[in-house]
Amino acid sequence: MKTKVGFVGCGGIAEAHLNAMNNFSDVEFTAFCDIDEQRGNIIAEKYKGKYFIDAKDMIENVDLDCIFFCLPPFAHGAEIYAIEKNIPFAVEKPVGLDLSLCKEILSGIKEKDLLTCVLYMNRYRRGIKMVKELSEKSQPILILGGWIGGTPKDVSSGIWKWWIQKDKSGGQFHEQVTHTVNLAKFFCGDAESVHAFAVKGKNKNAPLNYSIEDAVVVNIKFKNGTVANLWASCSANAGGGGVSLDVYSNDFTAKFTGWDHTLKLYRKDQDTIEVRGEPNIFEIEDRAFIDAVKTKNKSLIMSDYEDGFKTIQITLAADISMKKGEVVFIE
Ligand SMILES: NC(=O)c1ccc[n+]([C@@H]2O[C@H](COP(=O)([O-])OP(=O)(O)OC[C@H]3O[C@@H](n4cnc5c(N)ncnc54)[C@H](O)[C@@H]3O)[C@@H](O)[C@H]2O)c1
Repeated sequence: MKTKVGFVGCGGIAEAHLNAMNNFSDVEFTAFCDIDEQRGNIIAEKYKGKYFIDAKDMIENVDLDCIFFCLPPFAHGAEIYAIEKNIPFAVEKPVGLDLSLCKEILSGIKEKDLLTCVLYMNRYRRGIKMVKELSEKSQPILILGGWIGGTPKDVSSGIWKWWIQKDKSGGQFHEQVTHTVNLAKFFCGDAESVHAFAVKGKNKNAPLNYSIEDAVVVNIKFKNGTVANLWASCSANAGGGGVSLDVYSNDFTAKFTGWDHTLKLYRKDQDTIEVRGEPNIFEIEDRAFIDAVKTKNKSLIMSDYEDGFKTIQITLAADISMKKGEVVFIE
């Protein structure tokens, strides 16, 4: 029997998952919801499912084995209906922007002991898993990393429409560098405190409605003692930015570069090795989630809702620190 999958949010990342799973012979795309009727209908027709404009209607009335929530940070909340119906779900990062709503969702998940997955795909990479294993033997001491890009230009459609608005995306650190925060958390455990500085209003030629920070630097202290300095910038228009993550311990140095997190690993008395990042990472991640749903095996999932919640606790604490200029302690 095929696994019946529903989608809430049918934009860019939903299509990346649909493409990734299109050749899974054990999956059927059953239903699609998007508040943009045109977009929802195009996707429903292309992937042969039924279209709904309302998530509650879809979740309550369709027999689904699991749901993918592929919503912008400000648009979450329909997860509650999946919890009510005991339907396992995967949710795109970050899990939301409203901490109290996400807390309510987390408590519903815990009450039902529901299987969930937050789609931090980098955790499924071989290089990341190698560094996780090394970190258990030799604790990271310093972590540096972030995402540096240029000023958003065409903001007329897709992600850029909401990405440039602070009250919709939460800003680049919350929406994008969440990947790096989540990986630092993977290597070090929970965070203790956060301190952040931001720069605003210096980005020349920023589009109308642009209200996010031009750049942010965030210091994080983890409960295990590791310190991290992570950053975001969308003002480097001359190039030379990109994605980076460096992990330094006494016994190894791990340097990840690029969207695919290709790893260069240095170890004492051993040859330096390179581990290329997997180009088909969505397929690897989605396979793990579907297998977890089919077998009810939570251990196949690398990041669950609670882990995603703890990640936004860090990025939203950075927001508070930017405003107050103080160190913020994580509850
Ligand atoms: N894992 C990754 O690498 C990755 C990459 C891109 C985006 N994302 C994340 O995925 C999420 C979505 O990003 P996207 O690029 O697909 O954005 P998008 O704007 O392309 O698509 C979002 C879709 O959700 C729909 N939508 C909004 N509110 C809705 C609601 N209440 N009910 C139903 N549909 C609703 C919109 O109409 C739109 O079609 C974001 O959180 C983003 O951070 C993750």
